[in-house]
Amino acid sequence: MASHSLLVLSMILVLHSIISMASASLSCVLQCESEVNLHLYLHQIASGPGTNQVVIVTSSKASDFGLTSVTDWAVIDGPNPATATIVARTKGMQVQADVAGPGWFNYFSMVFEKNSRYNGSSFEAMGINFQTGQGQMAIMGGTGEFAMARGIIKYNALPNPPTFQTIKELNIRAFYVKPADTTSGGAIQ
Ligand SMILES: *[C@@H]1O[C@H](CO)[C@@H](O)[C@H](O)[C@H]1NC(C)=O
Repeated sequence: MASHSLLVLSMILVLHSIISMASASLSCVLQCESEVNLHLYLHQIASGPGTNQVVIVTSSKASDFGLTSVTDWAVIDGPNPATATIVARTKGMQVQADVAGPGWFNYFSMVFEKNSRYNGSSFEAMGINFQTGQGQMAIMGGTGEFAMARGIIKYNALPNPPTFQTIKELNIRAFYVKPADTTSGGAIQ
């Protein structure tokens, strides 16, 4: 009789530890990721009205190797800056990091603003940003709704921009884990 109760007791203990192990591992399962695809445009004005970048380190090299600027480019929802709405800005820096040049290394926070439904959230991005043609930059992280973001920004420079300006088409694809306490306002994008 005594050994029978002992057997039942040990079975209960084993069951209990299996159940608590299972619930412990369940509570560690990651929240599902969300995916976002945004089709936007980047508007860079190096000189003239609305200038949104400034050189902070000059270079004596013919290739401008080392030239460094602070950037606050506008991210707009259409290719024509005159009619498009600003939805974000890229706050960061641009460094000419190619000895032979040009090879513009960029890193920035793309901070969404009040005209975006992602107002206040950001993508943290870096990569080589050619002045013309196509390329890619990596999304290394994010804040707000875009917490734990990772993804890619594919860009394609539009031909014949106004003097001292570039306009790039951006195809942004990212995965992120939206925190439960995040609220997003706004209307556009
Ligand atoms: C955008 O976010 C800022 C900062 O959190 C907030 O003050 C503002 O009210 C927001 N605007 C809209 C339209 O949601």
